[in-house]
Amino acid sequence: MITKKLNSWFEMAYMSYGTWPLWWVSEAHPEDEKKSVETLRYAIQAGCNYIDTAELYGCWQSEKFLGQAIENYDRESIFIASKVRGSNVSYDAIKMACKNSLERLWVGYLDLYYIHWREEQFDLAECMRAMEDLVDEGRIKYIWVCNFSTQTLKEAQSYCKKYKIVANQVHYNLFFREPESDGLLQYCQENDIMLVSYRPVELGKLAHNPTLHYMGLVKKYNATPAQLSLNWLIHQMNVVTIFHSSNHEHIQENLWALDFKMSPEDIALLRRDFKWQLFESDCIRLG
Ligand SMILES: NC(=O)c1ccc[n+]([C@@H]2O[C@H](COP(=O)([O-])OP(=O)(O)OC[C@H]3O[C@@H](n4cnc5c(N)ncnc54)[C@H](OP(=O)(O)O)[C@@H]3O)[C@@H](O)[C@H]2O)c1
Repeated sequence: MITKKLNSWFEMAYMSYGTWPLWWVSEAHPEDEKKSVETLRYAIQAGCNYIDTAELYGCWQSEKFLGQAIENYDRESIFIASKVRGSNVSYDAIKMACKNSLERLWVGYLDLYYIHWREEQFDLAECMRAMEDLVDEGRIKYIWVCNFSTQTLKEAQSYCKKYKIVANQVHYNLFFREPESDGLLQYCQENDIMLVSYRPVELGKLAHNPTLHYMGLVKKYNATPAQLSLNWLIHQMNVVTIFHSSNHEHIQENLWALDFKMSPEDIALLRRDFKWQLFESDCIRLG
């Protein structure tokens, strides 16, 4: 997968593969486990070797499925990002959560480790200390955060004594513009931080939205609305994205979004004129 590099030399795929909907497998449907692992293997073979997961996904099962899917791969060939849930963030709880994630994944280290979201009660300074210690212990390579506003991101960075937060993963797509209204996009661009957009096709809604047809961009780029939605993100400075699909054709369609480049004028046009823009996430608000 082609990567985007920051000035710090941290690099990440233009598009990662997300594991959120690889759901809990019930006793009544044990075959779903096989399906989840096969879906992951298909995505990896198709070129998605940057993978986003979290302890919470699939009720602690997505990490296990990912571990099974990558068991025959060299560890270095797969980039794994995982997350500790926002309600589990004391120093000891973070260290324990990371250990458990590594065990479920059957790997020795994580490339990225995030705090999934911020909750009022958590001590950000203590949390960043735990993250820095995990880097020193070789359990994680880089520290990220998720769903942090500009203000919280700045505060979190101020507690890091040795390492820089390399990215913030947030809800951002043609519909949902909170990273723009919060100033986060600009802050990340000015401070060499990757803004990682999740929900790039807004759960499939952007793939079926007619606006990109009306605006003439489907014809101009000979691309589908899903590909245009992804392309609009990945060709903005410091922005990369994470999509999920369990459908082989959709995975291929989305990966073809890497094969063209939207002009800066069209990126600006869509930023300004795309209809139905919303300035607060309906998934997890920045906080
Ligand atoms: N940090 C956080 O708080 C957070 C929150 C949400 C998500 N995430 C991460 O971001 C990843 C992606 O976000 P997401 O899964 O919520 O949203 P998404 O990628 O925008 O949407 C996934 C849905 O869109 C459909 N889809 C994908 N490509 C399509 C296409 N070309 N045409 C039609 N439908 C298409 C998929 O259905 P099919 O399977 O039928 O293709 C799937 O149901 C997650 O898996 C997760 O890893 C992180």
